[in-house]
Amino acid sequence: MKTPKHYLQFNDLTRDEYAYLFERAATIKRKFKNYETHHPLFDRTLVMIFEKASTRTRLSFEAGMQQLGGSAIYLNTRDSQLGRGEPVEDAAQVISRMSDAVMIRTFEQSIIERFAANSRVPVINGLTNEYHPCQIMADIFTFIEHHGSIAGKTVAWIGDSNNVCNTWLQAAEVLDFNVHVATPPGYEVEADRANLYGTDHFEQFADPMEAAKGADIITTDVWTSMGFEAENEERMRDFADFQVDGDMMRVAAPGALFMHCLPAHRGEEVTAEVIDGPQSVVWEEAENRLHAQKALLEYLVLGRLDAAERMPIAD
Ligand code: CP
Ligand code: NVA
Repeated sequence: MKTPKHYLQFNDLTRDEYAYLFERAATIKRKFKNYETHHPLFDRTLVMIFEKASTRTRLSFEAGMQQLGGSAIYLNTRDSQLGRGEPVEDAAQVISRMSDAVMIRTFEQSIIERFAANSRVPVINGLTNEYHPCQIMADIFTFIEHHGSIAGKTVAWIGDSNNVCNTWLQAAEVLDFNVHVATPPGYEVEADRANLYGTDHFEQFADPMEAAKGADIITTDVWTSMGFEAENEERMRDFADFQVDGDMMRVAAPGALFMHCLPAHRGEEVTAEVIDGPQSVVWEEAENRLHAQKALLEYLVLGRLDAAERMPIAD
């Protein structure tokens, strides 16, 4: 059996592969907007396994597969054998014999790794406790649409050093940009992870205003991620000074974008003024999940289809 190509972490793909995917996403987006039929995955099936809630991820993968000419099947742990203790390895053997790709949203990264190790088809990370690569791929595509290359730019991450933050840190290594992370004490990027990413592309700040100074993207996320609900009350207190507001946007670079993976809590991690303001691109990020993931699905299942001119991710 040929080993399939998986997308479990952002750094599973190279800079060159991202250059291809961003260009492909732009092409696929243009075709979709022009009502041009694009069915490279005719008759192919994506299985989507959700162990946590989702709006955007489910919708973008399901709609995306239909638009590519295929179909998507939704499974969750509540009403499949996955929630009744069937080993992940066994589930992977069975599910991957009936499908062409699998998307999984789950808890520990080790679960998706075990699934992938036993899968005959590509496995895509639709969010784990550790990473959310599809989100950052769509976010960087959104940045490129506005400002071109992200290489050498600075992203300020304000708030919890969670799965989305970890993925920005990985992306900075792959695509050669910088991430400033500002967290309350006790919520810093884990030492192991900080060592893993080195200091070339990453700087930790105690003061969110310092982190935001001159940044090209200001981004944040909920203070309590899925699976951490028991800590919610404590987190509301601990993160109170880490809200993205108008003052923070004013110290960023001129033309800086505000990003948020959504869902958002206005009045907690971001003010309504910012998320509903002119620098916010949150709806574009959400829409671009669809186009970027269609490019990803096409690539993982079929390989490269088009050697057309690439978008500039590097100068
Ligand atoms: N951003 C994101 O992944 O949203 P959902 O949780 O709605 O899928
Ligand atoms: N960090 C959030 C992202 C949701 C899309 C969570 O894991 O709940």
